[in-house]
Amino acid sequence: MEFKEVNQLPIDVEKAIKKRVSTRSFEARSLTDEDKKKLMDFSKTLTNPFGIDVYVQYISKNTGAKNIQLGTYGTIKGAKDFLAITVKDEHFAMEAVGYQFENLVLYATYMDIGTVWLAATFSRKDFENAMEISSDDLFPCICPVGYPSEKRSIIEKFTRASLGSKNRKSWDKLFYLEDFNQPLSSKEAGKYESALEMLRLAPSATNAQPWAVVKERNNFHFFCNYKNGISEDMRKIKHLDLGIALSHFQQTSMSEGLSGKFEIKNIHFSIPEHMHYVISYISE
Ligand SMILES: Cc1cc2nc3c(=O)[nH]c(=O)nc-3n(C[C@H](O)[C@H](O)[C@H](O)COP(=O)(O)O)c2cc1C
Repeated sequence: MEFKEVNQLPIDVEKAIKKRVSTRSFEARSLTDEDKKKLMDFSKTLTNPFGIDVYVQYISKNTGAKNIQLGTYGTIKGAKDFLAITVKDEHFAMEAVGYQFENLVLYATYMDIGTVWLAATFSRKDFENAMEISSDDLFPCICPVGYPSEKRSIIEKFTRASLGSKNRKSWDKLFYLEDFNQPLSSKEAGKYESALEMLRLAPSATNAQPWAVVKERNNFHFFCNYKNGISEDMRKIKHLDLGIALSHFQQTSMSEGLSGKFEIKNIHFSIPEHMHYVISYISE
């Protein structure tokens, strides 16, 4: 498989990654027309390494979806506008969604627009009534967009606390050298230290951080970490999370002037049962 080159985001990506945080309490107003246009025009320029079309639709309570209930089970406060993401079901569709839409999340963050990926806590039926979707589309996520309110709602505080959203796994739980037996130190990561550190800060569903990277010489092998036997829907979300991680890793690499390409490699070391190989990045 040939992977595609992706443009570098025209923002300070490390700053956006560090600033981004899920927003679940919004000011009760729509995006300004100017911000909406800027965000959606930018969205149209985005691609992903998998060459897969990822569709992003803007759904507003104030316009098209006026009389349609858009339910988020009380988890989201104040949001008037949502982005709905659809994709055709093919190999790497979820990684493509994660990669491409996370780039939009980072751009929104740079614009001071609040976001939160939602895969579970929304009514798919409600949104499907307000959007274009065909029977063979996958509809993995929506994302409210708006201006973060100054105070977090009680339910948001509760959600963040119960998910441990502030926390991230330490390096030795995520990054390995040569095989899965040896942890990779930040020093051993060399010029890829920041790229891996920015990957580590990425958001993931239930903050599970289901990813691992093995550095083997100039190869970085990416694995998705989940139990065999989870549902197909759960498995898809884990691969979406991996796409988010790939975006943070590659976009940070590019911002540091590093280049490399994605490839599928044969893995010659032993792979723990819960680790699922996805892709390798070969640094040049
Ligand atoms: C693919 C994906 C799906 C998510 N689904 C939900 C969701 O359904 N409801 C929710 O409240 N948060 C959801 N989140 C947000 C995560 O809980 C959040 O990113 C994580 O706890 C880390 O917190 P942070 O984003 O504030 O850094 C999702 C995140 C991702 C990446």
